[in-house]
Amino acid sequence: MEKNFQGHWDPVMMGKREADVMGEADSACSASGHHPHGGQSLWQHCDLQEERIYMDYNATTPLESEVILAISEALHEAWGNPSSSYLPGRKAKNIINRSRENVARMVGGRAEDIIFTSGGTEANNLVFYTAIKYFWEARGAAEINGQEKSHQNGKSVLPHIITSNVEHDSVKLTAENLSREGKADVTFVPVSKVTARVEVEDVMAAVRPTTCLISVMLANNETGVLMPIRELCQRVRSLNKQQPAPRILLHTDAAQAIGKVRVDAQELGVDYLTIVGHKFYAPRVGALYVNGPGTTTPVFPMFFGGGQERNFRPGTENTPMIAGLGKAAELVSTHLSRYETHLRETTLYLEQRLQDVFGREKIHFNSHFLGSETLPNTCNVSILGPELKGRRVLSSCRRLLASVGAACHSNRGDRPSHILLSSGIPPEVAANALRLSVGRGTTHSDVELAVEDLRQAVQQLEGLS
Ligand SMILES: Cc1ncc(COP(=O)(O)O)c(C=O)c1O
Repeated sequence: MEKNFQGHWDPVMMGKREADVMGEADSACSASGHHPHGGQSLWQHCDLQEERIYMDYNATTPLESEVILAISEALHEAWGNPSSSYLPGRKAKNIINRSRENVARMVGGRAEDIIFTSGGTEANNLVFYTAIKYFWEARGAAEINGQEKSHQNGKSVLPHIITSNVEHDSVKLTAENLSREGKADVTFVPVSKVTARVEVEDVMAAVRPTTCLISVMLANNETGVLMPIRELCQRVRSLNKQQPAPRILLHTDAAQAIGKVRVDAQELGVDYLTIVGHKFYAPRVGALYVNGPGTTTPVFPMFFGGGQERNFRPGTENTPMIAGLGKAAELVSTHLSRYETHLRETTLYLEQRLQDVFGREKIHFNSHFLGSETLPNTCNVSILGPELKGRRVLSSCRRLLASVGAACHSNRGDRPSHILLSSGIPPEVAANALRLSVGRGTTHSDVELAVEDLRQAVQQLEGLS
């Protein structure tokens, strides 16, 4: 059994649990009610001889043991309603406040800049919803002052939003829906087919007088490419200074970057930044960083209720999960450089071993782009050959648990990822893509086992042809 990186949790057992969750295990294993750490359970009916190697950390991460502890302490001791003034309520409130500080510290913000949400999808939707409302409020004020008209040449003016063509569905589909419903004009700026980045000049060229929001992810979930958010914000901020309100709001979805590379919202210069717990060993909750919510930067709530989260996101707080998010954030702030070094070193080792075993000519890295930096943990690779479609290769693997692209696209059949195609990867190469993403606990011997598994799968598939 593998020794893990931090000695916190066992990646082998983790792999087995993930197999269960992902439906990879047989039906007896995938029934619920087992104890994940063994004991009398359904696990005993399963074939546990085979080790599973989890390399899909961009899809989700397990919880760190400290995070589980923080959650269970909150469940036991801070069950009170955080709005109640007696002890259990005050305990819950204190935990939430501490978590808010930890999450803020992790992204270079202030505690008051953090709004807890159910996850990344909600945080992204909140930004788009806000931008549209903000546009109309500012527009209404300007119209009253005689500066603007809501119709031009008989056509109604719509708020304009710019985003990229490689965003997560929680941005892409939100933008498409606003456009379909006639609530916004949306420009999907294509990423460069050379760098796989959104180029700042291309975004600036798309700006219109009605542009109210630019939303570009910090790191892509499939290629791992880091987008030039800081440069983009600098350009937009100087443009904002030259033109009258409404200013263009800036948002980045940092779901994939947090916990892997340094993320500092102030340094980046964004107004909003999306935080997704389950990508950095926290539970499935999230937060939105807003630079001075309601003062410097607008937030219009999508929900109305009991006043929690200063009315920006009401609803009785999910204290235990917020406690877990705060603990995971604290771990990132404390250990980021160690995590990053480990992830980069492990990914480099994985890439080297893939080249050693298959030969350079048979491997194409879909996460290597001229002039672009990438996440330290993401190896998107195609093993070239007509029989080696990504999905076929993965389903022939006995141990490796990975994906061919974003988890939310897992029902796309054999169609190659639109993100890879948009990034300039030829269709026949993209069709073979495997997204391997390593984690804090991935060891060299996990890499060896995964590569050997791939070697056997490829041998089998090519032998059949
Ligand atoms: C880049 C990105 N944004 C947003 C999300 C959505 O976050 P959540 O699953 O918390 O809704 C994900 C998760 O897959 C993601 O990878």
